[in-house]
Amino acid sequence: MTTPSLTQRPTWQALARHRDSLQSEHLRQFFAADPNRGTSLALEAVGIYFDYSKNRVTSETISLLTALAEEVGLPARIAAMFRGDKINTTEGRSVLHVALRAPRDAKIVVDGENVVPAVHAVLDKMAAFSERIRSGQWLGFTGQPIRNIVNIGIGGSDLGPVMAYEALRHYSERGLNCRFVSNVDGTDIAEAVRDLDASETLFIIASKTFTTIETLTNAHSARSWLVAALGSEQAVSKHFVAVSTAAEEVSKFGIDTANMFEFWDWVGGRYSYDAAIGLSLMIAIGPNNFRDMLAGFHAMDEHFRTAPLPQNLPALHGLLTVWNTNFLEAESVAILPYDQYLKRFPAYLQQLTMESNGKSVTLEGNPVAVNTSPVYWGEPGTNGQHSFYQLIHQGTRRIVCDFLGFTHSLNPLGKHHDLLMANMFAQAEALAFGKTAEEVKAEGTADRLVPHRTFAGNRASNTILLDKLTPAALGKLVALYEHSVFTQGIIWNINSFDQWGVELGKVLAKRIAPELESAASPPLAHDSSTNALIERYRKQRGR
Ligand code: F6P
Repeated sequence: MTTPSLTQRPTWQALARHRDSLQSEHLRQFFAADPNRGTSLALEAVGIYFDYSKNRVTSETISLLTALAEEVGLPARIAAMFRGDKINTTEGRSVLHVALRAPRDAKIVVDGENVVPAVHAVLDKMAAFSERIRSGQWLGFTGQPIRNIVNIGIGGSDLGPVMAYEALRHYSERGLNCRFVSNVDGTDIAEAVRDLDASETLFIIASKTFTTIETLTNAHSARSWLVAALGSEQAVSKHFVAVSTAAEEVSKFGIDTANMFEFWDWVGGRYSYDAAIGLSLMIAIGPNNFRDMLAGFHAMDEHFRTAPLPQNLPALHGLLTVWNTNFLEAESVAILPYDQYLKRFPAYLQQLTMESNGKSVTLEGNPVAVNTSPVYWGEPGTNGQHSFYQLIHQGTRRIVCDFLGFTHSLNPLGKHHDLLMANMFAQAEALAFGKTAEEVKAEGTADRLVPHRTFAGNRASNTILLDKLTPAALGKLVALYEHSVFTQGIIWNINSFDQWGVELGKVLAKRIAPELESAASPPLAHDSSTNALIERYRKQRGR
């Protein structure tokens, strides 16, 4: 039996008709018609309050969206992921980041083996190692305790650890200095180590495959720097550890596999910072805080696995993204955390969302009939307000905003927090309700300025409110987005867990690198633009 095309599904068509019937309604009218809208279109789960009332939806929209989710089999697909089925069909792999935060006594079987004991064995090994570093017991080659941690990785092996380290900096051991190197641009590693004492520095080489050219290039440079500073190859074993799924590659690099922290091919790179990829984070915040974070993830996992769809926070969030993207033609989602500690959260979500759902063929390899992932971007509030919010308020494009905030600040300081949150609430209000020409005129504005000072409003946003940025809260928040991405992928019938789209550029770069480096003029067989750029580069480098 062939799967019906998404747009041919009766519920999809009902959603399209429903959208047409709402087209002329403004959020002002929705709110005026229902005084309880602000609380009835909101829900709370595992300590996260999710207000979606400022979307252009009614309760009927939610019923239709959840009916669509039922129709495409979302509940069964959720069960399949948690069961360990090989739902990453193009790579023949299970997708089990949820096993990384499962309690010790849970049982999740992959290829006949319960993976939970192995997850906990690695967590225990990470905890013991972290404690040795934090307590000063692990000594470097010259007998000095470690004070600097440099994580070298890229993509999921960088963005997760750095985002979470910044997010949980409040809980970090301030005597340790953590840095993150990702870019193959030599500036990144050069600046990261320039003021460090090698005898007190530990490098964590984080790479799922241990073949990523950026990471290996940076790792080799770090190794040369360390050996030059400490005067011996023997120093490497005391100053380098690896996090990887590829023990053989780790040995080839020269790191003893006893100093390797393992994870598994059923953990996607962008879903891996709660696995050993989070070692730098665990060293910074300590094993207990790390475990609290995992408990937060797990609480959201359980909610996603068990809650009925209309009360299922990640499912609803994902379905609203589908609604805004496919029915209301939103082009992008702005992630706007009103918390300075979450400054890298938008960058982290860019990989999670766009590498997962930036796809244009279905699981069966047919073209997807509708747009898939919107573009994600963002900056912390209130900074963004003084930069790009102008376009969100008065530009011609439709952008959905996710406002993220906390009731309590980790740094209560005078009026700061009330002011911060007043701004967050105000922005969502302004986007939804705008300011009519009549209101602008009534303020005595000159006629010629009225169109410039009018705000159309009717612009969608979600408000996600938590009590306090704790390790558990961060885990819940990340799991919320992971499962929202999953939900979207199920509706679009795409594989959210592969990333073939990053391969072509890697292959071409491998071909071009020797052409840039070679002393003799290489024969160039690219297009005329690429050939000219390579020739110009070579000439200016005197080659
Ligand atoms: O090129 C994309 C990618 O494969 C990401 O999916 C991944 O997170 C990143 O590269 C790094 O990969 P690795 O951890 O294997 O070095």
